Amino acid sequence: MKRLSIRSPFDMHLHLRDEDMLKLVAPLSSKTFSAAIIMPNLVPPVDTKEAVISYKNRIKDAIKDDDFEPMMTLFFKPYSKEFLESVKDDIKAIKLYPAGITTNSEGGVSSIDVNELAPTLNAMADLGLPLCVHGETNGFVMDREKEFLSVYETLAKAFPKLKIIMEHITTKDATKLLDRYDNLYATITVQHLLITLDDVAGGMLKPHLFCKPIAKRYEDREALVTLATSAHPKVMFGSDSAPHPKDAKENCGCAAGVFTSPIAIQVLAELFEKHNKLENLEKFISINATNIYNLKRTNKTINLIKKDFVVPQDYRFENEIVVPMYSNETLSWSIDSIIQG
Ligand code: DOR
Ligand code: ZN
Repeated sequence: MKRLSIRSPFDMHLHLRDEDMLKLVAPLSSKTFSAAIIMPNLVPPVDTKEAVISYKNRIKDAIKDDDFEPMMTLFFKPYSKEFLESVKDDIKAIKLYPAGITTNSEGGVSSIDVNELAPTLNAMADLGLPLCVHGETNGFVMDREKEFLSVYETLAKAFPKLKIIMEHITTKDATKLLDRYDNLYATITVQHLLITLDDVAGGMLKPHLFCKPIAKRYEDREALVTLATSAHPKVMFGSDSAPHPKDAKENCGCAAGVFTSPIAIQVLAELFEKHNKLENLEKFISINATNIYNLKRTNKTINLIKKDFVVPQDYRFENEIVVPMYSNETLSWSIDSIIQG
């Protein structure tokens, strides 16, 4: 049977939530990944050194003895250089949300004004802290990312020493922007490599595939697949795995987010194999991130085998229930064993 090993997989964009949901989902990432960039959009947002440290401790408690590093982020606000210096060793990046654009982002930035943001962004550039961005306007849902690309350009030009990460890109236009500025990078999710808007809303409405940014057109998906499977050095895997309770998804006001942690590596193996690019998988899921974020790889290794894996219908802990992408469906790669680092 065909086998494949991936050393030190990194998830460069992950939502772990808090309390029982954290206890439910954190082990599903810490089992298979070496480390992950942890999103700060809790309520209230993670925006102090104390909040970063205590959230990291709660994550460590939840993952027990797994060999997994939670790489913490702060929720972007104007911060002083003194504050950033005091917290720089506790975080790997700062995440900027336009106000109200997605889950728990009400405290985000209401307008992206270069002069207003300059003190914080210059300090981040000096300290080598990357800026992760949720790049959407509040325009028409299919155009939100495209409309935001000029903001990325403005930031990239105004702060050439700042590493700017276009999170969860979904459009062909974003893939083209990547090479125009040395300081622009990107993450790509599993779902945006696999689905289009047709899968979300073209037939029966699929709440478990609804996320922000929403999945786009076929040509967008194709451009993303080309970029990821060629392991473009400025692109990293970031699942954006975003669990919500089952009843918040299967609801007339469906929460945005696709839960992919337990299936991500298997699905990526299937996709890269289909495109005859398995040799690039480790770059997309590990090596590129080490270069962009200056990370050290660990020896944790995921051994995959070409054998059916039936995705569990749901995952449960106490009163929490969360439904993964491809619930009850069969994937062609399974995790055979995991060697801790
Ligand atoms: O679909 C999404 N869910 N997109 C985001 O940007 C946030 C995330 C969440 O936190 O639920
Ligand atoms: Zn996210």
